[in-house]
Amino acid sequence: MLYIGADYYPEHWERQRWSVDAELIQRAGIDVVRLAEFAWSRLEPEDGRYEFGWLDEAMSILDRKGIKVVLCTPTASPPAWLIQKHPDILPILRDGNRMSFGARRHYCITNKTYHYYSERIIRKLAEHYKNSSQVIGWQVDNEFGGPKCYCEGCRREFQRWLKSKYKSLDNLNRSWGNAFWSHDYTSWEQIPLPIVPYHNPAFDLDFRRFFSDMNLAYSNMQIRLLKSITPDKFVTHNFMGLFPHLNYYDLAKNYDFVSWDNYPQNLENRFRVALSHDVMRGLKKKNFWVMEQQCSYLTRQDITPTFSPGQMRLWTYHSFAHGAEAVVYFRWRACTFGIEQFHSGILQHDGTDRSISYKEATRISSEIHRIAPQLEGSRLISPVAIIYDYDNIWANYAYQEKPMYDYPGEALRFYRAIKRLGINVDVVRPVDDLSKYRAVIAPLMYIVTEEAATNIRRYVEKGGTFIAGFRFGIKDENSNMVKTVLPGKLKDLFGIAIYAWDNLRERSVEVKDEEGESYQADTFADLITPEGAEIIAKYNSSWYSPYAAATVRSFGKGKAYYIGCGLSQGFYDKLMRKVLKGLELEEIRCPDEVEIAIRQKEDKKLIFLMNFSDKSSEVSLGRKYVDLITEKKLSGKVEIDPFGVMLLI
Ligand code: GLA
Ligand code: ZN
Repeated sequence: MLYIGADYYPEHWERQRWSVDAELIQRAGIDVVRLAEFAWSRLEPEDGRYEFGWLDEAMSILDRKGIKVVLCTPTASPPAWLIQKHPDILPILRDGNRMSFGARRHYCITNKTYHYYSERIIRKLAEHYKNSSQVIGWQVDNEFGGPKCYCEGCRREFQRWLKSKYKSLDNLNRSWGNAFWSHDYTSWEQIPLPIVPYHNPAFDLDFRRFFSDMNLAYSNMQIRLLKSITPDKFVTHNFMGLFPHLNYYDLAKNYDFVSWDNYPQNLENRFRVALSHDVMRGLKKKNFWVMEQQCSYLTRQDITPTFSPGQMRLWTYHSFAHGAEAVVYFRWRACTFGIEQFHSGILQHDGTDRSISYKEATRISSEIHRIAPQLEGSRLISPVAIIYDYDNIWANYAYQEKPMYDYPGEALRFYRAIKRLGINVDVVRPVDDLSKYRAVIAPLMYIVTEEAATNIRRYVEKGGTFIAGFRFGIKDENSNMVKTVLPGKLKDLFGIAIYAWDNLRERSVEVKDEEGESYQADTFADLITPEGAEIIAKYNSSWYSPYAAATVRSFGKGKAYYIGCGLSQGFYDKLMRKVLKGLELEEIRCPDEVEIAIRQKEDKKLIFLMNFSDKSSEVSLGRKYVDLITEKKLSGKVEIDPFGVMLLI
């Protein structure tokens, strides 16, 4: 079942309005609404006093129009009475100050009192709605991920977490390298939280893992509770795409499916958004929901543009094209008050059906409902995968607030090149089964564990093509540098050695490939000494000149590439064309601004063409297709409208 939905907050409007909304929602063809996301103060206005009557009434008005509901646990915004009673629920920020009431997400994730009150409201809600067939599922909390709390309770939890991981202080001191700057601990109670501006990378990585685990524990508590009371309803959470501060694979594990909040903002972000979808699909290796889809300008209306007509539709198809099963718009109507009063909705503040987004939603839902039978049960099949790994994302932060390099940015160099060939991309972990992929790409993979090394080696031996980006394998799982010659554990696989490197922030360096084509190197340079590998590109500037910039080695039945620096896009385009030869979508030729993504049901391919430009584009079709959206037969050269979409079979 595919859905079009809206995030609706009846508590923001007068009761008399609810039936008008329900009527407009139905007329737009919207079949599901998400409710009660931040409504704790209205559901439990005082400690232990519950008021569900208003929600019952709003829901029954919607029910009369056949509109289904996803209910939220309201725990992202603890009410003022709870904070007054238990101020220790408020997190302590890194500067040592307690966060104050007044925004949202103002709770310490390990606070036992908060767990108690959360469980209590969730139990009440679940019991109250367990027999409602209108409620199809739950969203847990809202956008887990922060703020990080530095209270004494969290510190004790962190010490406990470390104790169960390392068992002995000797082991911890050794693993962290605490000989450095006299950091040896002689009792667990001495271990601080990472408050000082510079801290040990090993310590930093464990704190990130700990914070992620604490979110996981709180999330799992909610899932268990909901599943025990309403086993027939789905449970999901709204993830945030490329958000780096939680291990999303772990977090996704116990949800029925992943949902995420998609705010593309600008057309320039299209590859980043596409990759985000693929990361979200990769978490459980299954299709997902978009629980909040941008419909126009955002809270910062001074910087985020209003969508031109057609863009809301384009981004919606983009979501479906990458594996969405539902697209729910944020939000039904722009609110007249509160922090997000400048944020657009499907309806503007005036509540009339004259908004651009309302017209567009109406068109989209009628199209999607018409093509739903074809799309249902289809999924993306990808012959190539990119490794996306949280330990590696975190190891990149080193000891700073900001990461050294842009991890998704490094992935995107390859990603863009692959997408331009009309090829789908999966996102995987280093230890996942890689055997079904023609090629697997690992940008910025600092940490290579024993298990990952074995997995990658076996993959290449059996015929896979593995492509590493710069700084591969420089660290162990404690975020300490390896003692061996780089690229560490898989040095023999690549048939290279790296004894020197440089960053390229201030240096302009030329690289030439085998055919003599020239590229600009950027960001970082591993200066490669081949030891059995073939050179595919060489540095051609200053003292780098003796070194290789990129190499390939045959290993077993497969190949291992090492790309030692950041390079101009043309390099990746050429490389991926070569590596993925034969997999490109031969019969459709598109200009750059048109993205191709393919969903597949058995042997039937559903090909999405999406024009990310405000001008019409010409695509050329090598055989006859039918566009499912217009039901027109197409072949040869065809025009695709500005922001237009085609769904070809
Ligand atoms: C997030 C939240 C929403 C809302 C939007 C605004 O994704 O989940 O509650 O604040 O951003 O863009
Ligand atoms: Zn805390």
